Amino acid sequence: MRVVLPILVSPTVLASRHRPDLCRLGGVTPPADLNIPAAPGIDGAEHIHSGKVRDLYRLAGGPWDGQLLMVASDRISAFDFVLDTTIPGKGEILTRMSSWWFDQLKDLVPNHVLATEVPAEVSGRAVICEELAMFPVECVVRGYLTGSGLLDYRVSGEVCGIALPAGLEDGSRLPEPLFTPATKAAVGDHDENVSYAAVAGEVGDEAAAELRELTMKVYARAEEIARARGIILADTKFEFGQRKDGTTVLADEVLTPDSSRFWPASDWRPGQAQPSYDKQIVRNWLLSAESGWDRASGVRPPALPQAVVDRTRQRYVEAFELLTGLSY
Ligand SMILES: Nc1ncnc2c1ncn2[C@@H]1O[C@H](COP(=O)(O)OP(=O)(O)O)[C@@H](O)[C@H]1O
Ligand SMILES: [Mg+2]
Repeated sequence: MRVVLPILVSPTVLASRHRPDLCRLGGVTPPADLNIPAAPGIDGAEHIHSGKVRDLYRLAGGPWDGQLLMVASDRISAFDFVLDTTIPGKGEILTRMSSWWFDQLKDLVPNHVLATEVPAEVSGRAVICEELAMFPVECVVRGYLTGSGLLDYRVSGEVCGIALPAGLEDGSRLPEPLFTPATKAAVGDHDENVSYAAVAGEVGDEAAAELRELTMKVYARAEEIARARGIILADTKFEFGQRKDGTTVLADEVLTPDSSRFWPASDWRPGQAQPSYDKQIVRNWLLSAESGWDRASGVRPPALPQAVVDRTRQRYVEAFELLTGLSY
């Protein structure tokens, strides 16, 4: 008999069905212990929110009056901490990568980008976008089993309530890609995998079905593009929001190494951790004896050595160039 584990959903998520007016951004200051630096002032823009990586502003005056300015910083997070060390150029690489992907996907789903001509001080690392009522769901899709999906599978034989065949290992290709949503945690909190039913309970049946359908469609396209370039898109996370007229729009960042696991196809060997074009170098160093950091201690991680910064930056550049065929 299969053991069915309770699906964990944060109480705040359960308490509120998706109400666009309540999900709008505004004046959210992250807790001080998150280590998110004060967002730099930008003329003609009011700072309204900072996440782990991005700072959001609302533009006042000019052609885009009232629209959002989303600025990607060089911050890097690992194990739910925003690190003291930044990765030079990361914000720009992520912004360029997202823009490239939005363009590849625009026939499948509308996206939130309005313009890329942004104030000079954030040139290259920011976009002007529509402010959407974000769905409080991380729309995760997995073509391969690893990370939190693997942990869930090892405990229950399931991921997000979906039963999987026995014998799968770290890095196994799944019989078919799975929609494995997670709650969108408050800044600094941990996302939790949830069942599809929990998502439907949160946003309604119709929206849940649409989020799943769009997620799967976009993944299929992106997976195909990546595969043609020798890269496995093992899993990725999308965030969608709603326009006032009810249209669902792809938002946030898309298909970057921060939101996705990209694996070199030639090195893929199920049964072990796969080499990856993401923060793996940082995570490995933090977990190594060299860092002197104990993950279980709850203490902030130490600053990264220059060599780790350089290698990480190189990894992001490589992912960008391989996928887009552009040079950075
Ligand atoms: N078009 C949009 N309208 C409103 N909010 C958005 C839009 N696109 C992205 N966001 C939100 O902006 C924030 C981006 O900052 P980020 O550093 O990625 O935050 P997080 O720490 O939550 O990952 C996220 O909270 C995301 O949901
Ligand atoms: Mg984010």
